[in-house]
Amino acid sequence: MYNDNPTLEGISKEINEQQQGEVYFKAGNSTGSKHFYIESYGCQMNFSDSEIVGSILGEAGFQPTRNMEIADLILINTCSIREKAEDTVRRRLRIFDQVKRQRPGTLVGVLGCMAERLKSKFLEEEQLVDLVVGPDAYRDLPKLVGSAEEGQKGVNVFLSREETYADISPLRLDSNGVAAFISIMRGCDNMCSFCVVPFTRGRERSRNTFSIIAEATDLFERGYREVTLLGQNVDSYKWENPETQKVVNFAQLLEMVANVHPDLRIRFSTSHPKDITDEVLYTMARYENICKYIHLPVQSGNSRILELMNRTYSREWYMERVQRIYEIMPDCAISSDIIAGFCSETEAEHQETLSMMAYANYSMSYMFFYSERPGTVAARKYPDDIPLAVKKKRLQEIIDLQGQISHEVNQGDLGKTFKVLIEGSSKRSDADWKGRNSQNKMVVFPKKGNHQAGDYVYVKIHEATSATLLGEMISAH
Ligand code: 5AD
Ligand code: SF4
Repeated sequence: MYNDNPTLEGISKEINEQQQGEVYFKAGNSTGSKHFYIESYGCQMNFSDSEIVGSILGEAGFQPTRNMEIADLILINTCSIREKAEDTVRRRLRIFDQVKRQRPGTLVGVLGCMAERLKSKFLEEEQLVDLVVGPDAYRDLPKLVGSAEEGQKGVNVFLSREETYADISPLRLDSNGVAAFISIMRGCDNMCSFCVVPFTRGRERSRNTFSIIAEATDLFERGYREVTLLGQNVDSYKWENPETQKVVNFAQLLEMVANVHPDLRIRFSTSHPKDITDEVLYTMARYENICKYIHLPVQSGNSRILELMNRTYSREWYMERVQRIYEIMPDCAISSDIIAGFCSETEAEHQETLSMMAYANYSMSYMFFYSERPGTVAARKYPDDIPLAVKKKRLQEIIDLQGQISHEVNQGDLGKTFKVLIEGSSKRSDADWKGRNSQNKMVVFPKKGNHQAGDYVYVKIHEATSATLLGEMISAH
């Protein structure tokens, strides 16, 4: 419930969870006559999972469509992180119901975290849902779809300790052909007390290093120039080679991916403040193509609240990590996730979150107020006792401060020149390119010369808002 969030970052996050997360991939190797339509909500991991689902369905003879009205199978990949995200999914299901009434025989499937949380209850609650498939059961989709076609509703919410879909080559959905996600691990073992993810995505497991490198290499050869390594907690990546018993940690994985090609940019998300090591920071500093940007969610700036959240670090620990990042990489940008109004949070404790934001100088943040999730430790142990009006007031203060900080940080970029990877035409004007700098800031600049998406160019900044840098191309790479 953070739709009162007026920052651009907040809005784009909102759009992710709210809007039709409609996805489509250009016909790849799928030649079947049946069509599927898929919408994704929630985190990047969910969007990445939809690409795995696309690949599995492609193999089973389904073609993608952007038009749900011609689809034989309508899928929604869902998020449970806040109540609001679940409300959005329920609204979308009402729309799918109408399509289904017009075209009897159309199947509707619920995938992802909400499928995992509600399991077969979904089939009772939502009579028109035919399939409920959790994040570790996507390989079973063709079989479940087959049974559903025969009238047998299907549920598979089995959570695995091993599944990483390592061998599946994701079909790139709605891709700009420049930037892609690579999932490097699944699940989460952290047990933050507010969070439903350990229940919906299961235990943490890391994907085979070689399959990650192979995927990055393949993407580069197909023209992609940026990969984002995804996991709930990338710093705890750990894969043991069964032949040599050698263990690869996240810093080593980063280095291997960086070595795929100097023109392949590497990003990663999400880092956990308790786990991010100096080895990772030094590896980032050593490679120009590892982007100088770290998403390091603080959640709260107060040590007592952090303990209640079971974040396993203190305010001082977090500050030390921030200091170390800026020491090793003075040009690094840091962003955050922040929760306002967690159980029993006092006004003074909220003020510590504000002062932490100023200390860390976040380039941007995703900001939420606390939403109690059934089954979590917080829901069981701590009363959700901060009145909604107070949560909203604190959230607004956080949003306002972040707006100011982002504005100041971006003003500091005036006159600087950045290497920018062109992602495509700007949304506002076909005469402009848009792309990102290493710090993950969106840069918009007039087209000039003979460039295309996927090219690196140098852009000198002459104007900045709290969300975008505007500039002029000065020379090609
Ligand atoms: N209430 C509000 N925000 C939450 N998040 C996770 N769980 C909750 C919750 N119960 C936020 C955290 C997390 C981000 C993905 O969502 O800030 O980092
Ligand atoms: Fe939402 Fe978390 Fe599931 Fe991602 S992992 S879809 S953020 S509940």
